[in-house]
Amino acid sequence: MQQAPKAHPPLPERVDIVEVGPRDGLQSEPEFVPTARKIELINDLVGAGIRHFEATSFVSPRAVPQLRDAKEVMRGVDRSTGAQFTTLVPNMKGAERAIEAGVDALVLFMSASESHNLKNVNCTRETSLERFREICAFAAQADVPVQGAIATAFGCPFEGEVPVAEVVRIAKAYHEMGMRVISLGDTTGMATPPLVQERCRALREAVPELEVTLHFHNTRGVGLVCAYTGLLEGITRFEASIGGLGGCPFVPRATGNISTEDLVYMLHECGVGTGIDLEHLLEAAQQTETLIGRTLPGQVMKAGSRLKTHSMDTVATANG
Ligand code: COA
Ligand code: ZN
Repeated sequence: MQQAPKAHPPLPERVDIVEVGPRDGLQSEPEFVPTARKIELINDLVGAGIRHFEATSFVSPRAVPQLRDAKEVMRGVDRSTGAQFTTLVPNMKGAERAIEAGVDALVLFMSASESHNLKNVNCTRETSLERFREICAFAAQADVPVQGAIATAFGCPFEGEVPVAEVVRIAKAYHEMGMRVISLGDTTGMATPPLVQERCRALREAVPELEVTLHFHNTRGVGLVCAYTGLLEGITRFEASIGGLGGCPFVPRATGNISTEDLVYMLHECGVGTGIDLEHLLEAAQQTETLIGRTLPGQVMKAGSRLKTHSMDTVATANG
């Protein structure tokens, strides 16, 4: 059988996928998803080979009622495979709850734009940074690693363009606090290939020690193109959500993340390994659709992978 040609530009041999569906995906779902179903979904994705999860958030249950069962989710998931479970944390109370629940790392999050930070976590960016310094000291005592997320890193729904200098400034502050892994969040799908290239290069120049993760939403249809641009820049860690579930409840017209199975499909077709079983993922995406009760945006889950052939009997012949 003829092998598919490999992508022309050199790409990383392997990347890590961080599944954020249980957090970013579910957080804006209006109907509460029972805790047992959340745990089943995560465990099924562990079975598909996913080794990194943003499992939930330790935020105010009044702000995000869907994730009020964060502790129970963390207690229920399969920890036997070495899969890593991180959770979002905005403040000290969240850090205490997350550490008590046994997370593998905290993900502290703030926005690159002031107005989104005010909307999302009800404080200024400087206050977020002050809180994070305290949390880093607290987490170090508990020997729990801390990662950082920067929301609205490619644009803000309230302010428009977000200067790259703001993203670099926050990334540097994170690095000074001891973080080694950060994520650039495209909260409202405003990233474009030139912006991805610019921000990856600026961070590599300013803080080369940081491992940069990319997090895209497919709001304007260019999510996978942005991920591919990241690959060309040598990024090897991407966040995505099963079925393309998702969206931030604190932005207008938010839509889903890039879908995990579409991203894995693209990566495998480009010869980039993920350690994930695509067929298993496609079944999980279909089950997630049943769980949520509506059609999800993922595309490969509808079409199947490209070499899935069909019986000729399944369609009529076009007689003239
Ligand atoms: N976990 C649980 N409860 C929390 C909490 C946390 N991490 N942080 C605060 N609370 C509770 C407080 O205990 C207090 O409860 P009480 O009124 O019963 O005493 C209440 O929330 C208000 O606390 P305060 O510190 O004044 O918070 P706030 O009202 O300024 O809200 C956040 C700040 C960060 C807690 C809130 O904006 C939030 O949870 N945002 C998360 C948004 C999000 O997840 N966005 C999606 C990700 S991009
Ligand atoms: Zn997001």
